Amino acid sequence: MLGPVILAASRSDRMRRLISAAPVTKQVVDRFIPGETVDDIVPIIKDLTAKGLELTMDVVGEDITTPEQAGAARDAYLALIDHLKDLELGERVEMSVKLSMFGQALPGGHELALANVRPVVEAAAAIGTTVTLDAEDHTTLDSMFAIHEELRKDFPQTGCVIQAYLFRTEADARRLAAAGSRVRLVKGAYKEPAEVAYQQRHEIDKAYVRVLRILMEGEGYPMIGSHDPRLIAIAQELAHQAGRKLDEYEFQMLYGIRGEEHLRLAAEGHRMRVYTAYGTDWYGYFMRRLAEKPANLRFFLRSMVSK
Ligand code: FDA
Repeated sequence: MLGPVILAASRSDRMRRLISAAPVTKQVVDRFIPGETVDDIVPIIKDLTAKGLELTMDVVGEDITTPEQAGAARDAYLALIDHLKDLELGERVEMSVKLSMFGQALPGGHELALANVRPVVEAAAAIGTTVTLDAEDHTTLDSMFAIHEELRKDFPQTGCVIQAYLFRTEADARRLAAAGSRVRLVKGAYKEPAEVAYQQRHEIDKAYVRVLRILMEGEGYPMIGSHDPRLIAIAQELAHQAGRKLDEYEFQMLYGIRGEEHLRLAAEGHRMRVYTAYGTDWYGYFMRRLAEKPANLRFFLRSMVSK
């Protein structure tokens, strides 16, 4: 029951100011967002890739209010890609982007977000890697899918995310499960109304399996974004049934969550990609992690009172 309350707080400026200013917040944030700058994050990229893991990098930020901020977000990704060039890791380190951070919600935002994301996709392709468009709240998705389609004309490897909790997702999955596509399936992290999304965990889990089956039986490249042990086992079974080899799908998990499982799956020969967020504007990302697991909130509150 706490999840929706925390997700509502994730949209509140007052809560943002309160939580961001609390002295202990930083320690808890570090568990999920292990750096603020490119220089902080490069050693982490080297460490995780040396352990056989792959990465998708998220420069945190969303809900920007000016085109200048959107341009700064683009430049932050370009600076990251510039650093990645020297590491020569190719597709082992890809990028995840939120179009809201590229200006999608501003006036003329669809065109602005496309104009800002395109150079990032181009720069990623130039170093042999790619970009995945994250899925945000349901009102943004038609624009996200249209931008995805546009980018794929020149960069077919550009990925996108679909969310099992939305009623629309089975149809999206059918459309997207075509040769050459890369699709990450997640449960969904936003507060969505009952008109558009399943609300009960068991309904979301069942929808996840239905959509996963579509992706596995399709011709694209499924990316299983979940920490749920049951879904991971089902994904392996569905991949087997569909005759997929180990390199014809991948698992993805968030940095700071079930780290042992990342290593276990990689050691079994699976492609395992860690979604690694960094940057200073971490509030929205952090609050969604708290909302996903009440124990995170308890840990956070305890560390505030024990100081
Ligand atoms: P579930 O929430 O049932 O968790 C299963 C188990 O995993 C828990 O019991 C716990 O052990 C562990 N766990 C999960 N979340 C945890 C947390 N925050 N802290 C500690 N332990 C936790 N969403 C979205 O709407 N758009 C997007 O683009 C993305 N992108 C994305 C990328 C990747 C790589 C992942 C893994 C997830 C996302 N998400 C996302 C988030 C996703 O929608 C979902 O909220 C979380 O993955 C939690 O759901 P699980 O499938 O992990 O299951």
